[in-house]
Formats: sequence, structure tokens, C-alpha cells
Amino acid sequence: MNYFSRLIVLLVLLAPLPPFCFSNQLQDSFRQCLTTHSTTQLPNIFYTPNNPSFTLLLNSTALNLRCIAPDAAKPEAIFTPLNEAHIQNAVICAKNIGIQLRLRSGGHDYEGISYTSVMDPPYVVIDLSKLRGVDVDVEDGSVWVQAGATIGELYYRVAEKSKTHGVPAGLCTSLGVGGHITGGAYGPMMRKYGLGADNALDVKMIDANGQILDRAAMGEDVFWAIRGGGGGSFGVIVSWKLNLVQVPETVTVFNVGRTLEQGATKILYKWQQVADKLDEDLFIRVVMQPSKIPKTNRKTVTTTYNALFLGKQARLQEIMKQSFPELGLKKEDCIEMSWLESVLFIAGYPRTVPTTILLAGKPTFLNSFKAKSDFVKTPIPEKGLEEIWERFLEDDGPLMIWNPYGGMMSRIPESSVPFPHRNGTLFMIQYLTSWMNPDKDVMNKHVDWIRKLYNYMAQHVSIFPRQAYVNYRDLDLGMNDKSGDDTSFIAASSWGTKYFKDNFNRLVKIKTQFDPDNFFKHEQSIPVLPLKTKFTHSEL
Ligand SMILES: Cc1cc2nc3c(=O)[nH]c(=O)nc-3n(C[C@H](O)[C@H](O)[C@H](O)COP(=O)(O)OP(=O)(O)OC[C@H]3O[C@@H](n4cnc5c(N)ncnc54)[C@H](O)[C@@H]3O)c2cc1C
Ligand SMILES: *[C@@H]1O[C@H](CO)[C@@H](O)[C@H](O)[C@H]1NC(C)=O
Ligand SMILES: *[C@@H]1O[C@H](CO)[C@@H](O)[C@H](O)[C@H]1NC(C)=O
Repeated sequence: MNYFSRLIVLLVLLAPLPPFCFSNQLQDSFRQCLTTHSTTQLPNIFYTPNNPSFTLLLNSTALNLRCIAPDAAKPEAIFTPLNEAHIQNAVICAKNIGIQLRLRSGGHDYEGISYTSVMDPPYVVIDLSKLRGVDVDVEDGSVWVQAGATIGELYYRVAEKSKTHGVPAGLCTSLGVGGHITGGAYGPMMRKYGLGADNALDVKMIDANGQILDRAAMGEDVFWAIRGGGGGSFGVIVSWKLNLVQVPETVTVFNVGRTLEQGATKILYKWQQVADKLDEDLFIRVVMQPSKIPKTNRKTVTTTYNALFLGKQARLQEIMKQSFPELGLKKEDCIEMSWLESVLFIAGYPRTVPTTILLAGKPTFLNSFKAKSDFVKTPIPEKGLEEIWERFLEDDGPLMIWNPYGGMMSRIPESSVPFPHRNGTLFMIQYLTSWMNPDKDVMNKHVDWIRKLYNYMAQHVSIFPRQAYVNYRDLDLGMNDKSGDDTSFIAASSWGTKYFKDNFNRLVKIKTQFDPDNFFKHEQSIPVLPLKTKFTHSEL
């Protein structure tokens, strides 16, 4: 027996109770505490691993299969509250028992931290999927939406009430309102109206004491922090009040694909110079995927220009002729439709799919993936693009999406909300690699590939700090320390300044004041200051 196996045997013998006994005790105390506080039948809202539906429920919105692999940490229990009081009780019980909470709305977290954990277990998931009400008030120009609703449901309910109103938020329709808005929430109307977080008017959130607070009750500092500071740091968001924005009755969309053989590199070089300066009604992102050259076995890259124009086809043609003729957009490429139909088009649904699909309220396709983000401030030269293609084609499941900035995004000051990627940003890059095979070797190959690409890209993107989007969570950027808050704080500034630039300091101060015991915590939650220094209001 070698040293390590002896040590393991020794540790097992020394352990007072095997871990599962500890688990059961925690589950029981949590269940008991909830029962004393609640009148609802717990079996329908409290699931332990013994419940036959547990895994199904855990899997239901876990978007990244990598994070529910057999060896990924699983919760002690999943609690699916039906009302605000249930959440308040869960917070109070978790605090009393000393168990961590994970909060899940739509389950799209890139590292799965809404349902798994690489920190110390045990933890309970509060899954908000049963809280999905949408209350549209066209006259007031606003909507109250609960955290568990998807943005697809939100868009559908708004369009149902008015053909000329919309909400500026994400492109993927299964995103949960709860996690999405609090991390920023960009989408095809960002160049005209800014982020979802820029359009948040009010909120209901439950704090670490189980109290329910709205904007007035929490104060402007905390309300600032939760509009872009990322989920799971300040409290449980129950619902958001969002601003409705004007959309025309008819919008225009197009998808235009260009391969390397069709001059994709030169066109993309031009796109980098115009995409952030185009008319604010126009949003053209570029989706890049490998493809095969017809009749050969050679791989190439297809760059697809995926666009929303808030207006009719004729005006779009004028703008394109003026600003971006290199793409060669034709009349036949353009499709006029309602804003709600454009939501489906941009999300990639075929035209035959009815808009009611948005009410399905959950993701339709799952795989394992790893992703990263970057912000670009000067165009990448053609030679750089060619080097990117070479690296891109080395992977068997790569995807890149380049997303234009400018317009309203440049006019909102960097400190307006914690999301700091504003004026000076030409576009954001998302890199992604996905796979289906659950083997660890396959995963490692993909993860290595994306890390190498990211290292190579350093020369082309923002530096000091190298910026990243918190809603594209990437644990490679750093993590809070498992053991204690003090070291966490120092480690956190590495990922914190990437996500938030100077706003990170203010986030830490607000967190320290609002949740001094660091009850709401996860791998990349905003840390508290080591010495619980008191700040006066004016310092914040
Ligand atoms: C396929 C796909 C497409 C995407 N497209 C876009 C896009 O177009 N635009 C964009 O901006 N982003 C996009 N994202 C990123 C997305 O905004 C984030 O993943 C977002 O955090 C998802 O929110 P969620 O509620 O679905 O996720 P969850 O996994 O449920 O939560 C994400 C984070 O928020 C916390 N959280 C969840 N609910 C609450 C709550 N009620 N109160 C407080 N904290 C909470 C969790 O702890 C976790 O840290 C995309 C992601 C995916 C996977
Ligand atoms: C849940 O997902 C995991 C990982 O993909 C899978 O192994 C398991 O069979 C799924 N369980 C159920 C009940 O769907
Ligand atoms: C954005 O930055 C540019 C260059 O630094 C500057 O000229 C411009 O005035 C800025 N725009 C806004 C709206 O602040």
C-alpha cells in the first residue's frame, strides 16, 4: 500500500460518519424547517435524491451537460417554490442550518453554477421555474416578469398585448429572466436601446434575512449592483420590472453566408470597421462555423451575417448600399416580418415554427460546452483573421459569434450599471466548443483547444484588463477560495476587473455592506472585504 492509499484509509476510519449520513441529516433538518414554516405540501416542491423525479428535475434546465456529468457535484435537495413566502422560508432555513443555496432560473449558466458546485458541498438548489408570471402594462410602458419565466415567454406576452412594443434582451429564447437580466442581457436591440439591465425599472428581491425588498427599500446602491453585477451575489431575484421599448410593426431580417472561398476574410475585415457605426436600427452579428467545400472533402469556414433591422426592407437596402456594400445584400435575402417573428428568426428557428414555441419555456437542445468571451477595440487585420481560421478548424465542434457594439451602448457611461463594456468597444467575441461524447478525454481535448485559442487571441483584444462578459461565466478566469473570504477577495480581483473593470470595487463595497456574512456565494460571487470595514453612504 503506498502512502496515499494509506492516508485515504486512515481518513475514512477517522471520519465520524460517512458523508451520506451527514447528508440525510441536513436534508431532514431542511425539510423540517420548511415544514414548520409552510402550509404547502412539501412532496410537490421539495425533492431529495430519493425522489424518483429528482434527476429529471435536476436535468430539466441544466443547459450544459458537462455540468451534470456523473462526477459533477449534485445538490442535497431541489426546492421549487410556488410563491415569495416559500423563497423567504428557504433562505431563513438555509441560514439557520448553515447550508449553501444555489439559485436557478433558466439554467443557462455557462459553468452550471446554478445547479452544480466545485466549492465545498453541501448545497440546496432553489429552482424558480414555477414562478413565471408575466404582467404587461402597455399604458405604463412596462412589464413585471418573474424570475423563472424565459425571455421567449416574456417576448411572446409583450407582443400579445402590443405589436409595437418589445423588450431589449437576449437572442436565445430559453434564457431565464432571473439570471439573464442581472448579468447584463444583450440582444439584437442593444445598439438602439442598450441592455436588458439598462432597461430595468424596479425589482423584487429577497435578501439574506429573508426580507423582500423593492428598489425603494433596497436603495440605489444595491439596485445598481444587481443590474449587471451577475447572479447569485446579493439575493434571490423574484421579479423584474422592465421598460417596454418601441418596435415598428414591420422589421426586416436576413441571414447571408459567405465562405472563405467567397471572400469571407475581406468582408469580415470590412464588417469590423462598420458594424459599430451603422444606423442604430441595424444589428448585424456574424456567426462562424466550419463547413465543407461542396464536392470536396476540404473544410472551410462559413461566416453568416445574421441581422435584425428595425424598419422596412427598402430603407435597409439604402443603408447597406451606403455603409456595407461589400456584403452584397440582395433584396431576396431580406424578409419582412413582425418583431416577434424576428425573435424566432434570430434565434435560428425555421420559418415554419409557430411563435407559440416560445411558450414551451425550456431549452430544446442540450450538449456539453465550454465558452469564453473577448472585447475588441481595433479591427483584427486580415492576416490575423487567417491565423484565426487555421486555429478554428483544428476543433471538431467550434463556434464563434461576433457581436457589434456602438450606438446606445457607447452613450451609456461605464459606471451607469456594473456592466462596463461601453464606448470604444467595436464588438464582442464569443468562442465556444461543444461535444456530445461524455468521455473525459473528449472534454479535455475541447477545453485545451479553446484555452489555446484564447491565449493566441490576446494580441487582438482588450488588455489591462482583458475584458470578459459575466453572463459568459468562465471559471478559468479565477474563482473564489473555498476556505475563506479573505483570500477570496484577493483572488477575485483577477476575474472581477475583467467582468466589471472599475465597477468591481463598488460591487465589493456594496456586497460587504448588504450581505456582510457572505450568505449568497458561489465560485464567482462578489466577495466581501476581508475586514468588514464600514462605508459611509457617500463613499459608495
Ligand atoms: C444558449 C445560450 C445563449 C445565450 N444567449 C445570450 C444572449 O443572447 N445574450 C446574453 O446577454 N446572454 C446570453 N447567454 C448567457 C445568459 O445571459 C446567462 O447564461 C444567464 O446567466 C442565464 O440566466 P439563467 O437564469 O438562464 O441561468 P441560471 O443558470 O439559472 O442562472 C445564472 C446565474 O444567475 C444566478 N441566478 C439565477 N436565478 C437567479 C435569481 N432569481 N436571483 C439571483 N440570481 C439568480 C445563478 O446563481 C447563476 O449564477 C446565453 C447563454 C446560453 C447558454
Ligand atoms: C440526466 O443527465 C445525465 C447527464 O447527461 C444523464 O446521464 C442522466 O441519464 C439524465 N437523467 C435523467 C433522468 O434524465
Ligand atoms: C467615445 O469615445 C470616442 C473616442 O475616445 C470619443 O471621441 C467619443 O466622444 C466618445 N463618445 C461618447 C458618447 O462618449
